[in-house]
Amino acid sequence: MDGAGQAKLILTGEHAVVYGHPAIALAVRQGVRVRLQAYDGPTHVVAPITTDERLHQAIDTVLPSTGIQVHIESTVPTGRGMGSSAALSVALVRAWANWQGQALTPETTYAAAMKVERIFHGNPSGIDNTVSAQGGVLWYRKGPPIHFEPLPTPDWELVVLDTKQAGDTKKMVQLVADRFKENRSVLEDIGQLVLEVREVLHDAKELGRCLSLNHTLLCQLGVSNNDLNALVDWSITQGAYGAKLAGAGGGGVVIALTPTPDTLIHQAKQAGISAFKTRVTETSWQ
Ligand code: MEV
Repeated sequence: MDGAGQAKLILTGEHAVVYGHPAIALAVRQGVRVRLQAYDGPTHVVAPITTDERLHQAIDTVLPSTGIQVHIESTVPTGRGMGSSAALSVALVRAWANWQGQALTPETTYAAAMKVERIFHGNPSGIDNTVSAQGGVLWYRKGPPIHFEPLPTPDWELVVLDTKQAGDTKKMVQLVADRFKENRSVLEDIGQLVLEVREVLHDAKELGRCLSLNHTLLCQLGVSNNDLNALVDWSITQGAYGAKLAGAGGGGVVIALTPTPDTLIHQAKQAGISAFKTRVTETSWQ
């Protein structure tokens, strides 16, 4: 029995969303698929072979302790801010519901996936698992009760540039929390910027300007690093309208908005930078 969840990129509003500000997230092409098979013995993961205790806890949270073999296939790079754990959480919850012949509503999917996300991230806002289950472009505000709204899909494509370093979401969220007093006004500025982004979502040039501004604010929060900053600066010198880190930071990816994505990818390859193009994807992973 199968279940799947989609990967995501946060267009704007990461970290501030944890404190009740709005954010905009995009579901993208990549995703995670979980396959469950009947087994005469304790429930366990067959593939991938992993020592990540959190994965075992996630399995224990959703599935019964005996009778199932779990196969996980993922096209989401882990620790890169692309929501690999949220996609896994949604996939696991859906696979188990399918196994039981149970119909999930969107609300029960987010709620069950949120329990699993907490194992990975401690205090998540819920944006990752919500967009992973929902697909498309999502305006999101943390609850309770959570509020989300699909936004019209823009026609631009993003270039994703990978630092190849894994960031630790739990650690980065804690870092922002530890300096909350100093960070408060920056988080508010991010919240304001998200309102502006919503207005210019379909104007790539203006949106690019906002993305770069968002990156500056994330730097002020202390969640960027030299490699992320170098990729942002490099994209701008190559003609991108704007760029920012996407996700919790401390590693992971940069997203760049450019009038010529293929050229930027070509230039990235020549510069030895790992890059790929992506666009918003409606729910294709169920
Ligand atoms: C992680 O993808 C986004 C953060 O805002 C954390 C969260 O919202 O749970 C950094």
